[in-house]
Amino acid sequence: MPTGRFLGLRTRVFDDFLTGAASHGCRQVVVLGAGLDTRAYRLPWPDGTTVFEIDHREVLDFKQSVLDAQDAVPRAGRVALAADLRQDWTGPLTAAGFDPARPTVWLAEGLVPYLPPAAERELLRIIDDHSAPGSMLGCEVKHGVDPLAQRNFPIYAVVRERTGIDLLALFSPEPRPRTAAELTARGWTSDVYTPFDFTRRHGRGPLPTLDDALAANRWILATRALAR
Ligand SMILES: C[S@@+](CC[C@H](N)C(=O)[O-])C[C@H]1O[C@@H](n2cnc3c(N)ncnc32)[C@H](O)[C@@H]1O
Repeated sequence: MPTGRFLGLRTRVFDDFLTGAASHGCRQVVVLGAGLDTRAYRLPWPDGTTVFEIDHREVLDFKQSVLDAQDAVPRAGRVALAADLRQDWTGPLTAAGFDPARPTVWLAEGLVPYLPPAAERELLRIIDDHSAPGSMLGCEVKHGVDPLAQRNFPIYAVVRERTGIDLLALFSPEPRPRTAAELTARGWTSDVYTPFDFTRRHGRGPLPTLDDALAANRWILATRALAR
């Protein structure tokens, strides 16, 4: 099923990115809009790693209830931080033990396309301001959506049918920022991929179709220079 193929591939790509960042010395992981992300439990983190998961309290509480029922044990220090990314979230993050002087790997997966462009730019600015040299960022963006053409694209149709949620209606219709270029201007190096790049690399995953909504998705894997 297309949704599973897409989400499975995306999970694998960012899993690999995060474990790669850990092997490059990032011992702080900040998952923005973490949702039901369980990487703190699944991935083989080096000793001394802390995973900060930021989301709304209701989401984190629900996830915790499921994890507790499974007696799940994290494989890193784990801090679930209830905060609103539209307000001050770095204050609570720092109070929870985050140290901006240490390299961090940030993850914004399935989050940025739902933010208005101004909020995306502000998020990037904040990430940059709190990134020590050698920090890394994995970020999913979307270069525009066409709700009419893509309404029946399987991923959106399936989610709409199963949950009643019209994901296309949640995407901001305003022109998107050129995120990779903005990161470059801030001294980051970025590699930008489509999901299909990884389908070809791994030999499984979604392939392009007519009016393919995924053609607008970009996965940005970025590193902040060691010195500016
Ligand atoms: C589409 S889900 C993606 C979840 C997860 N990153 C993943 O890829 O499976 C987006 C998540 O971002 C969270 N989110 C959206 N806006 C937020 C905000 N302003 N502050 C904190 N969390 C937010 C939502 O609650 C939701 O859990």
